Amino acid sequence: MKEKFYITTPIYYPSNKFTLGNCYTTVICDAIARFNKRQGKDVFFLTGTDEHGQKISQAAAAKGMAEKDYLDEIVADAKALWAMLGIEYDKFIRTTDDYHEKSVQTIFRTLYEKGYIYKGEYEGLYCTPCEAFWTESQLVDGKCPDCGRAVSPQKEEAYFFKLSEFGDKLMKLYKDNPKFLQPQSRINEMVNNFLKPGLADLCVSRTSVKWGIPVDFDPKHTIYVWLDALTNYTNALGYNSEDESLFKKYWPANVHMVGKEIVRFHAIIWPAFLMALDLPLPERIFAHGWMLFGGDKLSKSKTTGSVECIDPRILVPEYSADAVRYILLREIPFGSDGNYTTEIFFNRFNSDLVNNFGNLVSRTLSMLKKYFGSVVPKHEKSENEDDIALQNDVKKEVENVFKVMEDFDVSKALISIFNIFTLANTYIQKVEPWAVAKDENQKARLATIMTNLLEAIRIGTSLLSSFLPECSKKVLDAFGIDAEADFADLDNFNGVEEGREILPIAILFPRLDIAAEFEKLAKIMANK
Ligand code: MSP
Repeated sequence: MKEKFYITTPIYYPSNKFTLGNCYTTVICDAIARFNKRQGKDVFFLTGTDEHGQKISQAAAAKGMAEKDYLDEIVADAKALWAMLGIEYDKFIRTTDDYHEKSVQTIFRTLYEKGYIYKGEYEGLYCTPCEAFWTESQLVDGKCPDCGRAVSPQKEEAYFFKLSEFGDKLMKLYKDNPKFLQPQSRINEMVNNFLKPGLADLCVSRTSVKWGIPVDFDPKHTIYVWLDALTNYTNALGYNSEDESLFKKYWPANVHMVGKEIVRFHAIIWPAFLMALDLPLPERIFAHGWMLFGGDKLSKSKTTGSVECIDPRILVPEYSADAVRYILLREIPFGSDGNYTTEIFFNRFNSDLVNNFGNLVSRTLSMLKKYFGSVVPKHEKSENEDDIALQNDVKKEVENVFKVMEDFDVSKALISIFNIFTLANTYIQKVEPWAVAKDENQKARLATIMTNLLEAIRIGTSLLSSFLPECSKKVLDAFGIDAEADFADLDNFNGVEEGREILPIAILFPRLDIAAEFEKLAKIMANK
């Protein structure tokens, strides 16, 4: 039986103004899901939208629309964006889906019946945009520690979850499973900021918020948005429904990928809910950093004096889904923050996609055409030291890709994959196939050189296909390799079919004239 792999993104607040930053978690998860599929695993990749709470009501009202109608439109937009970026999720959950709402009510009732939820009165400081209550000591300069905006005192009858009972259990969880929350620095943050000062019980219902899931046994209360949202991870698999087969198969999650600002909810509140429900805990929670725009998570401030475009709906049609995926996956050191500017995007496009990868493929296939009529020559075993060095160096990079992907480090994986292309380009300069081709007696040597290059491309592109699926498929199709199949022959230089015709393919990435592109983008954005 195939090993299962269940990966989730956070469910997004619906918006038709998603920036590149919003696409980050989803693109990472898509790459990891595809990579695990190609490793032969039975993958389930979940994403979706988080649709309850005051903010949504306010946004719908501002447009004079009913919440659900408003949401249907923007969810359709979000799905279109994911399709545009080549995101292949297995399920899209909406927290307004009937089965989810029912399960949330069942979970709430179960926790109440088990004595983990009780009725009381809440008096606290509430951040409306974040839909989070804070204590005085958690505020930063008197403001919400997550978004820096003002909080206001609120008081009302409410149900509480006994979070305070879970401090020791969580401490033990982190100690026994050091990989439960990564990077390691996040564990320290949770311990020092939340567990050591002591956990307060958590308010899990509101009477003032109307747009939410009602508590079924006390319907003037709606259920706290984070209890609603977090349980999407089990509910999407049919937990509490008539058919729990997916839940039985895929739960617990192998990884919840989350942005660093929502770690507290995933690494403290979520495991506490699961423990209270007697459910197994996710294997890992990975907190990634932010893509910053001029030092900010959200703004599109102009830092370089050039046009700053962070709208994926403009960038994808202009520069391809792969190029946008590349900058997201490559530019941000995994787990840390990374800065984005349009200039960085253009430079990476030209240096990595055009000069390194695209150029390697086109020059190799034109040499194959010129020297061997586009037919893959016989693979000869070679003792030549340049060949052996290339093969060994490529092998090391391949091993490294698998190693870093165990910790989901997509940026390091891409560095290694592009190192393979660099190695092949350097090999071309070193062995000078054009010089070898001049000597009729060196036909066998030329054949070895060409097959080495084809193998380096095949291996690198097979690995690349999980990250940049469109361009990789073009190359792999030409090589007769199924881009969806399990990885094969990555540890040997003998996977391209001898005698196969590999014709030159259309340019993968056209070189950008950066000044002209800036002008073009400025025009597009002015007309938006
Ligand atoms: N709805 C909650 C999650 C509930 S999960 C049970 C939420 N939604 S969100 O739309 O605000 O964020 C979704 C994801 O997008 C988060 O992982 C967040 O970190 C990520 N990003 C949004 N902007 C980002 C950047 N600029 N950079 C990287 N990721 C960021 O939180």
